[in-house]
Amino acid sequence: MLTGKKIVLGVTGGIAAFKAASLCSKLVKQGAEVRVIMTESAVKFITELTMQTLSKAPVFTDTFDEKDPAVIAHINLADWADLVLVAPATANIIAKMAAGLADDMLSTTLLATEAPIMAAPAMNVHMYQHPAVVRNMNELAQRGVMFVEPGSGLLACGYVGKGRLEEPEQIVAVVERFFEQQDGRSKGALAGKKVVVTAGGTVERIDPVRYITNDSSGKMGFALAEAARELGAEVVLIAGSTTGQPPAGKGIELERVQSAQNMYDAVMRHFDSSDIVIKAAAVADYRPAVQADRKMKKSGDTMTLELVKNIDILEQLGQKKTGQFLIGFAAETNDVEHYAMDKLRRKNCDLIVANDVTSEGAGFGTDTNIVQIYDHEGLVERLPQLSKLETARRILEVAAGRLEGPGVER
Ligand code: PMT
Repeated sequence: MLTGKKIVLGVTGGIAAFKAASLCSKLVKQGAEVRVIMTESAVKFITELTMQTLSKAPVFTDTFDEKDPAVIAHINLADWADLVLVAPATANIIAKMAAGLADDMLSTTLLATEAPIMAAPAMNVHMYQHPAVVRNMNELAQRGVMFVEPGSGLLACGYVGKGRLEEPEQIVAVVERFFEQQDGRSKGALAGKKVVVTAGGTVERIDPVRYITNDSSGKMGFALAEAARELGAEVVLIAGSTTGQPPAGKGIELERVQSAQNMYDAVMRHFDSSDIVIKAAAVADYRPAVQADRKMKKSGDTMTLELVKNIDILEQLGQKKTGQFLIGFAAETNDVEHYAMDKLRRKNCDLIVANDVTSEGAGFGTDTNIVQIYDHEGLVERLPQLSKLETARRILEVAAGRLEGPGVER
């Protein structure tokens, strides 16, 4: 599965460093070329000789120990890598990565590399939950660093909780999935497909100066448009009110709309010729019954605004679909699975992406999201906190794998 993939494995100093030996061995067995960098603390837990024997290559521990005078080792490794995997990743290396520190071989390489970075944290449960660690991980996730979440259980320090390094075979599986997705991207898994994405909040006018809207920034929809373009699709991005920066350029056609009705009209213009429709927009369920054409004047101590139901765009698409693959979103605050599955069935979607918008780092306005993907059978995938772009890539990966036959005739 990993033949020809070049992986720099960064090992940092926690008790879980002993599992890095098994991880390295499994990566090599899967065909990866592995170069190991160990921190000064890591070599207190596991020897360089172990890692050298398993990786079949010299191990790097010191930035100034230049083994080949023709190159600068940390730059050479940074450029060589297809992936830099830090496992285990201590709270210390996570803090250094977030701050951009470069004071040893691993942190210097991490700063110099343009390769994707994946980190598998391992630490005491209270350290893992410390606001500083949470903030650093959020910051890194926003920059695109992928995390392999630690497992829960009895920790080496005696506490029971979250913080145990994920098992090496699970980390290898995540690495394999990452490369599979990356290869899919370069092969253009959605080449020739038309993808319609809705983003942002709708604006329901009360009068010329007032309206009802919501907190959607459009970032999730924009990320989906970007990810669909990466996969080779022709993208129509229908955006309501947004604060994020929409992706621009070749492959993405941007249409601006205001109300739910405008959004419905725009989506319907493209629906027949689309292969995938993704409804990431936060559409107002109700609009004012009357839209005043002049600014409404203040009168009385209270005011009642009558609202009428908006068209449910997704539900309409679900009824009208003739082969289009329909992805809905569910923004929930409680009973996430129950409500998401209900929306999936009622609106006849192929997939529904649920986000608990009360979770930190998820939902409205954030640069990251934490989502679960469901189909009619139930949970398909539970994603950890990832940048919205990476989340979008994972969603489209699932969708691309499920598209059948030649798609919709145009
Ligand atoms: O834009 P961001 O700041 O990045 O935030 C992202 C997000 C939180 C808006 C996004 O991840 C998300 O959850 N979008 C859906 C928000 C929403 O309206 O959810 P809902 O559970 O109310 O609606 C369910 C689905 O029906 C959605 O796909 C929605 O687009 C669709 N819908 C809802 C009402 C309506 N009248 N027409 C619709 O099509």
